Amino acid sequence: MSVEVSRGLENVIIKTTGLTYIDGINGILRYRGYDINDLVNYASYEELIHLMLYGELPNRQQLNQVKGIINESFEVPEQVISTIFSMPRSCDAIGMMETAFGILASIYDPKWNKTTNKELAVQIIAKTATITANIYRAKEGLKPKIPEPSESYAESFLAATFGKKPTQEEIKAMDASLILYTDHEVPASTTAALVASSTLSDMYSCIVAALAALKGPLHGGAAEEAFKQFVEIGSVENADKWFEEKIIKGKSRLMGFGHRVYKTYDPRAKIFKTLAKSFAEKNENVKKYYEIAERIEKLGVDTFGSKHIYPNTDFYSGIVFYALGFPRYMFTSLFALSRVLGWLAHIIEYVEEQHRLIRPRALYIGPEKREFKPIELR
Ligand code: ACO
Repeated sequence: MSVEVSRGLENVIIKTTGLTYIDGINGILRYRGYDINDLVNYASYEELIHLMLYGELPNRQQLNQVKGIINESFEVPEQVISTIFSMPRSCDAIGMMETAFGILASIYDPKWNKTTNKELAVQIIAKTATITANIYRAKEGLKPKIPEPSESYAESFLAATFGKKPTQEEIKAMDASLILYTDHEVPASTTAALVASSTLSDMYSCIVAALAALKGPLHGGAAEEAFKQFVEIGSVENADKWFEEKIIKGKSRLMGFGHRVYKTYDPRAKIFKTLAKSFAEKNENVKKYYEIAERIEKLGVDTFGSKHIYPNTDFYSGIVFYALGFPRYMFTSLFALSRVLGWLAHIIEYVEEQHRLIRPRALYIGPEKREFKPIELR
């Protein structure tokens, strides 16, 4: 029998989904049929939570219900906060997030239940804001702060993180970033969550599995790496020289460029660029990084466009996070803060509608049967 191994599970269809559609040739991304541009322009993250979990954009009453659950669910068990604040400030932010969700898994251990799964998911999303904000606060040596109820999840999160009321522009940009990173079908982290959910492990543990996969530099870390390049370049005058030496002669990969699925511009990159530009117009430091990024984008597209390698979502997102006041070490956690909705929507879709234990096979290529030798004879 001939068996083919799909390295990296490439082209393996692991489930059907009504959540996210990607057309990598034409650069199209839709959540439940709605174009990503329309969602960023006209919807809020709370509306997206309803769309992803319940299948439809909410009416006023449904939206108020989602907001109500969020506003009531920011509290986390005291052990979560005390553990985050007892960890050394040098700890990795995603590692701290895994720890926090591990504590929630130990305390709650909820069972799957079709009548409560979705509401629990909304509660978990609220708690993710609390965890993320307090990881920043602990690492910065600040005091714990639980997000306060507000009209917007983005606003509650930013206010708790930085301890001050965010501007409307900051809220809008945070909201857009939450929407942009919400879901992307079944990348490594979502697949890890699905594998855990297929054993009927609880939702919190599934998030730990997803975070573990997200943490690696080949997945969640690219926004930080892309921004590091702009810091290293330092000024737009150095961009061409840096590109020539590092990327052309040095043959390094241009971070924030290229994608397994998109063979053209990632539609999210264009939206993040617009957001970055609007911050750059008001802030000289942001402007510096924006100008560097724009020049590198031009050089990157001129060099790699013929190989279908274009900016991905992480190319400009770091500049937006920087403009919002986040240090680089938080970029992957901000990705997780948003993606938790995608993870939850996928595992609920899987467990409720198409559940089966995920248990692939490995093709044995080791030695044939051998005689056991006692240790003295080896
Ligand atoms: N810079 C330079 N060359 C690149 C880049 C890049 N960013 N990306 C791909 N290539 C080249 C490779 O060198 C290779 O060239 P070759 O055929 O001459 O050897 C070719 O394109 C194919 O590369 P693969 O790694 O096989 O393509 P894959 O589809 O696996 O790559 C990936 C996707 C991993 C994202 C890659 O483009 C990359 O490393 N990009 C930089 C990191 C990054 O930005 N990651 C974020 C992805 S988006 C996200 O996760 C949210």
